[in-house]
Amino acid sequence: MKKLFEIAKENIKNAYVPYSKFRVSAVLELKNGEIYKGINVENASYGLSNCAERSALFAAYSNGVKKEDIKQIMVYTDKEHFVSPCGACRQVMRELIEEDAPVIFANSKGEFKKVLNKDLLPYGFTEKDL
Ligand code: THU
Repeated sequence: MKKLFEIAKENIKNAYVPYSKFRVSAVLELKNGEIYKGINVENASYGLSNCAERSALFAAYSNGVKKEDIKQIMVYTDKEHFVSPCGACRQVMRELIEEDAPVIFANSKGEFKKVLNKDLLPYGFTEKDL
């Protein structure tokens, strides 16, 4: 947890946030110990902005990572309170990360809150509904 925290904290500087100035950093840990990092990337056309969680996941999947390879994801902000993933990220995490995998929120005080992926999106729409 501490290792993920240090990586997330270091990488938050890469957040591209000229509009919101709200930095988010996400770190994905694989079961084999590999790490994929993501930050939020905003755009002048605001709706095209991408959250840190999805950046990390898309980076991992772009490099061949599969759902079953992922151990957990940490979401870090430099705020004192916990920030939890937005609805769009919950939907994407529900599909791309195993339902029992931990999603860890981390704040600037170095505190952690761990929840299960499935608990972030009760009654979620999934590929099984198609
Ligand atoms: N943001 C994330 O990166 N992850 C979340 O789960 C919540 C929101 C970003 C999107 C935008 O760049 C900024 O935070 C403010 O909404």
